[in-house]
Amino acid sequence: MSALSELIKNNRSFRRFDQSVKIELDTLKSLIDLARCSASAANLQPLKYILSVEPVMNERIFSCLAWAAYLKDWNGPSDGEKPSAYIVILGDKSVTDNFRCDHGIAAQSIMLGAREIGFGGCIIAAIHQRNIRFCLNIHPNHEILLVLALGKPIEEVLIEPVPADGNIRYWRDSNQVHHVPKRSLDDIIVSSYS
Ligand SMILES: Cc1cc2nc3c(=O)[nH]c(=O)nc-3n(C[C@H](O)[C@H](O)[C@H](O)COP(=O)(O)O)c2cc1C
Repeated sequence: MSALSELIKNNRSFRRFDQSVKIELDTLKSLIDLARCSASAANLQPLKYILSVEPVMNERIFSCLAWAAYLKDWNGPSDGEKPSAYIVILGDKSVTDNFRCDHGIAAQSIMLGAREIGFGGCIIAAIHQRNIRFCLNIHPNHEILLVLALGKPIEEVLIEPVPADGNIRYWRDSNQVHHVPKRSLDDIIVSSYS
């Protein structure tokens, strides 16, 4: 497997971390630089970022996020297992009203960069918009698109085939291993011409 294939396969959504492992602000900046160099529709580059490695601010951001909706008996990471850092991805409406898929591409660049240096995390779109806007004093021109939660992962995440009943919900076994069903190649390639 090439280094890139391996990185992509190891780049799972992690939601439990060793919170004692800190992430430096400069590390977050180097990850934002990967997003900065990524593709952007019409090269408009409308994305802006808020970074936090500060415990009090981290706690405020944490309180605005919803974790793992399919895991009904789990309310998100507990103290000691929370993320050490956050990146909030904003869309600057003074540049454009349509951010296309720029934030998805930026998020993936950042998550891959984080994974490559031993960190990991989760892309989060279930955000309490009003609260996070207030907590972070976000400018009215800035739309809140995604929050990236980052830390040193402590959970095992496995991808596996979607079961016969077609259920794509991720689940955790009794050892707290997180299982993520992925559709097969045959299921997702509609046509191929050669
Ligand atoms: C756009 C987007 C939004 C997501 N929002 C959330 C979220 O709000 N909360 C959460 O716990 N996970 C969220 N996730 C993570 C997905 O649940 C995760 O990608 C999916 O379960 C597959 O797992 P994998 O990333 O390990 O392949 C999001 C992922 C994406 C790409």
